[in-house]
Amino acid sequence: MKGIVFTEFLDFAEQKIGAEALEEIIEACADDLPTGGAYTAVGTYSCSELMTLVQAISTHSGAAIPQLVHEFGEMMSRSFVALYPQYYTRFDSLFDFLSHIDDYIHVEVKKLYPDAELPEFRVIERSDDRLVIDYSSPRGLTHLAAGLFQGSSDHYREPVRIHHVVEPAADVTARFELSRV
Ligand code: HEM
Repeated sequence: MKGIVFTEFLDFAEQKIGAEALEEIIEACADDLPTGGAYTAVGTYSCSELMTLVQAISTHSGAAIPQLVHEFGEMMSRSFVALYPQYYTRFDSLFDFLSHIDDYIHVEVKKLYPDAELPEFRVIERSDDRLVIDYSSPRGLTHLAAGLFQGSSDHYREPVRIHHVVEPAADVTARFELSRV
């Protein structure tokens, strides 16, 4: 997993529990963190290292892991708006943006980070009021995807109810249904 996800996660964790507590947690997990908690945006690190940090922040803060990862996705979405505004301005609406994660956004991401391990998003159904997208990834980061969907909705100021079903079909990690409210 690319270091940008780790650097974003540490920013998120710092906001959540404070710099001092975060430092203590990183020290306490040192044996399970091959890098010792030092990341660069362009580096590549194991996804399990991120999960070690998520678990430790969850234990410290009392926040459940799915909730924590969802919130992180929302924050990462805000960071992407700041870092890569051109990916958002290219699309006029939430559904247009989300329909082009695989054939535009993550294609551009792959140019920036050639070794990025990206998920697959497939549009299953689309109307003015409803968008159904299948998410597939061996990393199974469904709650991160949910947070990114929510963050994208907030950015475009197009409120939607987001519902997901886990493993709706073979090789599909989760099916997301977005309905306008
Ligand atoms: C400007 C917009 C976006 C940028 C710059 C971006 C960039 C990235 C990057 C750098 C990674 C890490 C790849 C790796 O670790 O190797 C990633 C992964 C991921 N992205 Fe995006 N992304 C964007 C939009 C989205 C949106 C809108 C969604 C979903 C609604 C999404 C879903 C995901 C998920 C779930 C992963 C985790 C990897 C996995 O599930 O296998 N991304 N993205």
